[in-house]
Amino acid sequence: MKENKTVFVCNQCGNISVKWKGRCPECGAWDSFEEELADRGSVKSAKAGDVAVPQKLHQLNVPEYIRKSTGISELDRVLGGGVVMGSVVLLSGEPGIGKSTLLMQMCDRLGQSGTILYVSGEESVTQLKLRADRLGIGDGDVYLLTETNTEAITEQCEKLSPDIVIIDSVQTLYSDKFTSAPGSVTQVKEAALALSVYAKKSNAAIFLVGHINKEGGISGPKTLEHMVDAVLYFEGERTQSYRIIRAIKNRYGSTNEIGVFEMGERGLTEIPNPSETMLAERPKGVSGSCAGCVMEGSRPIITEIQSLVSKTAYPSPKRTCDGFDYNRMCLLIAVLEKRMGLRFSECDVYLNVAGGLRLEEPGADLSVALSLISGMTDRVCPDDIIAFGEIGLAGEVRAVSHVEYRIKEALRLGFSRIIIPESCIGKRSPFLGKSEVKGISNIFQLLSFLSDKK
Ligand code: TYD
Ligand code: MG
Repeated sequence: MKENKTVFVCNQCGNISVKWKGRCPECGAWDSFEEELADRGSVKSAKAGDVAVPQKLHQLNVPEYIRKSTGISELDRVLGGGVVMGSVVLLSGEPGIGKSTLLMQMCDRLGQSGTILYVSGEESVTQLKLRADRLGIGDGDVYLLTETNTEAITEQCEKLSPDIVIIDSVQTLYSDKFTSAPGSVTQVKEAALALSVYAKKSNAAIFLVGHINKEGGISGPKTLEHMVDAVLYFEGERTQSYRIIRAIKNRYGSTNEIGVFEMGERGLTEIPNPSETMLAERPKGVSGSCAGCVMEGSRPIITEIQSLVSKTAYPSPKRTCDGFDYNRMCLLIAVLEKRMGLRFSECDVYLNVAGGLRLEEPGADLSVALSLISGMTDRVCPDDIIAFGEIGLAGEVRAVSHVEYRIKEALRLGFSRIIIPESCIGKRSPFLGKSEVKGISNIFQLLSFLSDKK
């Protein structure tokens, strides 16, 4: 007989069933049954000794947490200045983006000052060794293990007592306690729980790799986000060599930092000043190109918007739009025509957002308008300018959210003139003294930022 009896519990209404069901007969929810241990009693009784008592805040004496540099400064920055010992970091990203590469490269420096256990459920020790050789990993104290059983991994951790544990990936782990397949919500949660208990107990830092899909993640890593101390997203187009790492959550630091890398022959190279590299292909001195900043959730992203405005040969002018809402573009064109007298009705307009990004929030209006005005008037928008803000039907520039994040990102990427809605400056005094930040209240003011016609 199986030692750990499990049951299936509906995560919507709590209905218990001995078998998995596709639909809960009680509440009718689909795919809501999750496997759980039938008897958590033994777990409770083991902990019965240490009953938590309330403690007075100012009397608490806690040791400063220890941070270790990963040897990769872009990663350190995102982690808030290095990895905190005893913490659990989830590194998620699409398959093939470079998670294993990044963590392997991290072993190079960390292996010099401590013991690392690299557990892989996806690659053999030979494959790992070959990759390490290719990446030029030094002779640090790095151990490799191919294992997918959660209990076996924690057992090995207890034996080796490493400073850093890397689990690649959390979706491959399974525990004997459950019958569900590796990668199921139950298994992934159980693995993360067991490992975070180990991390807190041993003060080892644990990196969990989690794969997500294009839509932002099936059950696996998403359900882990609240269980871990930091969540890092590794993203980028696989067809392009740039990779960005961002913190989505960080209990030990800010979530507004990004780290930029380039994937090459010998793994990932840091890009300490991404402003030039990210916008490297941006044409210089050409009308119609403008930089804009949009928020992707809580993440600011800077991109280039291009537009081509040419005399039409058709009875009704042609308009195409890639990466921006077509109707919103038509609306902005109408505003520019009506309020600024620019005769777009006689021109074809082609708008494109570079890098395949989709701009879906009002903050992109100002940069799109600036690009259109530049394209229409043949006056160049200088490289150091970036704009964000919403445009109203009267041509007024309206406030947008997350101004602070966007400005920080723009400053980090090296822009020296940041055009933002005037009302945002009024409300948020931190920007009043900043010479880089220029507030505008009407689209007319955009003209003063464009260079003279050649
Ligand atoms: P990998 O780190 O295995 O991705 P993940 O763990 O996120 O699934 O590597 C991703 C890709 O990077 C892989 O397709 C090959 C490429 N790559 C390089 O271009 N150069 C290198 O030095 C390495 C190690 C990988
Ligand atoms: Mg991998």
